Amino acid sequence: MAAYIRSSDVFSLAFILYVSLVGCICEGNVKVAGEGENFVQIKEANFVINGSPFLFNGFNAYWMMNVATDPEERCKVTQVLQDAANAGLSVCRTWAFADGADDKALQISPGVYDERVFQGLDFVVAEARKYGIRLILSFVNNYKDFGGRPQYVEWARSSGVQVQNDDDFYTNPIVKGYYKNHVERVITRVNTITKIAYKNDTTIMAWELINEPRCQVDYSGQMVNAWVQEMAVFVKSLDQYHLLEVGLEGFYGDTMPERKQVNPGYQVGTDFISNNLVKEIDFTTIHAYPDQWLSGENEDSQMEFMQRWMSSHYEDSRSILKKPLVIAEFGKSNKDRDYNVSKRDSYMNAVYRNIYTEAKSGGAVGGGLVWQLMADGMGAYGDGYEIILSESPSTNGIVSQQSHAMTTLSRMLRNGPQNVRGHSSSSSSVTNHRYLHRAHNRKVLRKTVP
Ligand SMILES: *[C@@H]1O[C@H](CO)[C@@H](O)[C@H](O)[C@H]1NC(C)=O
Ligand SMILES: *[C@@H]1O[C@H](CO)[C@@H](O)[C@H](O)[C@H]1NC(C)=O
Repeated sequence: MAAYIRSSDVFSLAFILYVSLVGCICEGNVKVAGEGENFVQIKEANFVINGSPFLFNGFNAYWMMNVATDPEERCKVTQVLQDAANAGLSVCRTWAFADGADDKALQISPGVYDERVFQGLDFVVAEARKYGIRLILSFVNNYKDFGGRPQYVEWARSSGVQVQNDDDFYTNPIVKGYYKNHVERVITRVNTITKIAYKNDTTIMAWELINEPRCQVDYSGQMVNAWVQEMAVFVKSLDQYHLLEVGLEGFYGDTMPERKQVNPGYQVGTDFISNNLVKEIDFTTIHAYPDQWLSGENEDSQMEFMQRWMSSHYEDSRSILKKPLVIAEFGKSNKDRDYNVSKRDSYMNAVYRNIYTEAKSGGAVGGGLVWQLMADGMGAYGDGYEIILSESPSTNGIVSQQSHAMTTLSRMLRNGPQNVRGHSSSSSSVTNHRYLHRAHNRKVLRKTVP
């Protein structure tokens, strides 16, 4: 979201750990915890956990650390994670940043942290683990909400560094140093509740470099690209186990000029192709707000845009980038013209069906993360897109159905081609062929693992 907002199979991981531990003891299994075990990883443009396909349904809840900073409010984090787990949601994207003078700032000034706020983030990570929900943690905001890029540049300016504008964030060595320092602080943090280092924690699915990078001084995407390259290498030098993504909305830049016609009429200084070609970037993301990006157009053309936006990025992720795609933000605002809940439901349903169909046909998609879940009584955090699952039974039903569909599809892929055939009588032979092909590849893979 560009506006103010910047700001099952659901076993608990503890249970999974318990089972694997017992398994080891009972069978006298000599299997030691392998490199990267239980982390979400990528194999052949698909998400996997311990080699098995991981298709998911997820959500955004940007406010979690902020709310968890006040121990009296933590029940809201717990409530949302619990509601989410009940609806089969298994991935949550949230902010690991709050920069500046705000009373709930994580980073008060460069390198100076509020331990109380960090413990709020510790709580979020610990609680997500409890409910079997994996986290995507973002390091900084593009926008001024919660500090962001403008705050980083302002810090430099106020300490006497010559800076012109907020885009110096991408190039100024002092500012880049501040950013790297923050990344290191978060990655090397040891959780005060679980005692697990963030870099060792399988609850964390991925790091995100920056929420929705944009750059006005270079629309080609090259300035952002140089920054992504440098920072991606830096993150991987600290942490080789976790996945990494940029935080892109999906706008095309100069690498494939013909793709620019898919943009909603403008560029923002990113390049979906070149930014995601960076070797250290593990998966691609798009955000989608046709209601804002094409606010002048009717719902049908907004929906057409949405279809095109998704299919063009599926195709590029699969055939050019060979990395899986996450629809990392989408939603429908109650501020939209003619909004009502059933409209929101049918919009979400359409996006979900699209994701499922792509996943089922063997496409490179992991899942979608709706923007955004909240708990009851959080008025100030609302932005029009908020969903309170416990108060929206119809939406809860649609979310749950999608979670179930994605989990079932994961299981079918895991169990091999016979099961898939049994469940997909309506699908084409092309689809089945793809399943067989993937199942075959998995077998080959399994054989080569000692
Ligand atoms: C993190 O993992 C490393 C390597 O397995 C281990 O040496 C270290 O003790 C772990 N630290 C924490 C706090 O989890
Ligand atoms: C929601 O809006 C649609 C189209 O404007 C309308 O057909 C439908 O009856 C409305 N639903 C509710 C529950 O108000």
